Amino acid sequence: MASKQETAGRQMGYKCRIAGVLLLLLTSIAALIAVAVIQDTWKFKEYSLEYGIVIDSGSSRSTVYLYEWPGEKQNDTGVVTEIKNCRVKGDGISEMKVDPQKDAESWKAFQVCMDDIINAIPVAKQNATPLYLGATAGMRLLHEQDEKRSNDVMASLRKYLSSLPVNFKSASIISGQEEGLYGWVTVNYLMGNLIEKNVWNAYIRPDGAKTVGSMDLGGASTQIAFAITDNLTGPDYMPIKLYGYPYNVYTHSFLCYGKNEAEKRILDKVIQESSNPAYIINPCFPEGYNATIKASTIYDTECTKKPRGYNPDQEYFMVGVADSDRCLSMVKSIFDFETCSSSLCSFNGVEQPPVTGDFMAYAGFFYTARALLKNGTEDPDDFNSDFDRFNASVRQFCNSHWEVLRSEKTWISPRFLKTYCYSGHYMFSLLADGYKFDKDTFENINFAKQVKSTSIGWSLGYMLSMSNMIPSEVKEILPMTNPVFASLIFLFSALTIVTIVIVFILLIRSCF
Ligand SMILES: *[C@@H]1O[C@H](CO)[C@@H](O)[C@H](O)[C@H]1NC(C)=O
Ligand SMILES: *[C@@H]1O[C@H](CO)[C@@H](O)[C@H](O)[C@H]1NC(C)=O
Ligand SMILES: *[C@@H]1O[C@H](CO)[C@@H](O)[C@H](O)[C@H]1NC(C)=O
Ligand SMILES: *[C@@H]1O[C@H](CO)[C@@H](O)[C@H](O)[C@H]1NC(C)=O
Repeated sequence: MASKQETAGRQMGYKCRIAGVLLLLLTSIAALIAVAVIQDTWKFKEYSLEYGIVIDSGSSRSTVYLYEWPGEKQNDTGVVTEIKNCRVKGDGISEMKVDPQKDAESWKAFQVCMDDIINAIPVAKQNATPLYLGATAGMRLLHEQDEKRSNDVMASLRKYLSSLPVNFKSASIISGQEEGLYGWVTVNYLMGNLIEKNVWNAYIRPDGAKTVGSMDLGGASTQIAFAITDNLTGPDYMPIKLYGYPYNVYTHSFLCYGKNEAEKRILDKVIQESSNPAYIINPCFPEGYNATIKASTIYDTECTKKPRGYNPDQEYFMVGVADSDRCLSMVKSIFDFETCSSSLCSFNGVEQPPVTGDFMAYAGFFYTARALLKNGTEDPDDFNSDFDRFNASVRQFCNSHWEVLRSEKTWISPRFLKTYCYSGHYMFSLLADGYKFDKDTFENINFAKQVKSTSIGWSLGYMLSMSNMIPSEVKEILPMTNPVFASLIFLFSALTIVTIVIVFILLIRSCF
């Protein structure tokens, strides 16, 4: 009897002990979870914001962008956002060093923007804020035309920028391919296509990730960039590794095929076809719009060939006739769609693999596509991504009278409004005949100027690359553990293991 009671008592004792140990186990697990949660919460509190400035010096203007991101720990991808931008008044920097008085105004305009941007950064952070300037096609052209002047402009800019109370890093002319590639990086970074955090807080490549192609239409050049799966090589294929994952990005930049330079080439064709400079029929100008154009605005560039006996002050009188078909043939005459020594070319003999996947078309592409809309809504769903409808709206625009356009499109300034018949045709030819988008693939083009309220352009990708914020290896961006967190995790993990061992021993002992 006694022994039976004893056994029962001992069993009771074991049960209590097991219950106690289990309680301890649960407590340590709870503590572990609590520490992890607290760490996660702390993480958000610990953020100190970091800033970076990029000046995009394009052919027609400079724009200063201010980016912000949470420092110390990466939150997610797409954390870098644009908080402010400032358009520097006046022309692009390629117009500098001609007229000292104009230069004085340009420096003043730069100062206005830089003050505005720097004042948006907390004083304590200003000295650590990196500043980059990248100049694109306008300066590439000037460099070809007048190397000394281009070097002088860059040197003055460096001198000015290093006098500012921020961390000036570099000012340089970036190549067309870099411009294309950085645009591609920007688009895919903002869309979260390159990396994401999984449930274990580790960064991984998004499941089944596809990248998006990028198309930029600037004033002096246009860029296309998209990733291909084939192992093709050549000057236009750039193998890059981002977060440990390799991409083969096809990218090409066409100098002189930006919206403004291409228009000069077309105006030159229009002039060449006419015999009377005082009465030139321009099929790309709307009917009812006439203009007097100075020769220097067309010929003072490396993109057009100066006529015999060129006089920069000569004036041409152009009469708009709104003839869509003739405008289109003028537009097509600046492309060479025939020459090709590879299996497939875009134009001018440039090899290009077939366009694949979705594309983001921004800058001039966006503005032109928007101009063709009936009204100025910016709802992306309104954009014409239908091949035939796009073609039809260009035609309709081109056949409209100037007064009709003025009253319908009050949201476009007349300065730009007169150019959209030409640029509609130009853009459609570039996409359809050049890049070879067809009725199916044209639907994959999205026209936009922003993603997550950040402007699409090469500047964000440039800053991310220059500051090593997109490492080629993934391990560098694993979340950092702080020592307190690590020791707490260690303590409670040890406790959990010890508890499990005790439970195990007790269970085994209770068997005997
Ligand atoms: C970090 O991510 C969380 C959730 O994804 C978001 O709510 C928070 O605003 C982000 N913080 C920053 C600074 O981006
Ligand atoms: C443009 O020129 C044509 C031909 O000279 C003329 O008939 C027309 O009235 C002009 N239009 C304007 C708006 O000047
Ligand atoms: C233009 O705007 C109006 C109101 O803002 C809207 O109802 C209409 O659908 C828009 N689109 C066209 C093509 O008119
Ligand atoms: C655009 O439309 C015109 C007229 O409808 C047609 O002749 C032309 O072939 C179309 N362009 C393309 C590339 O389909």
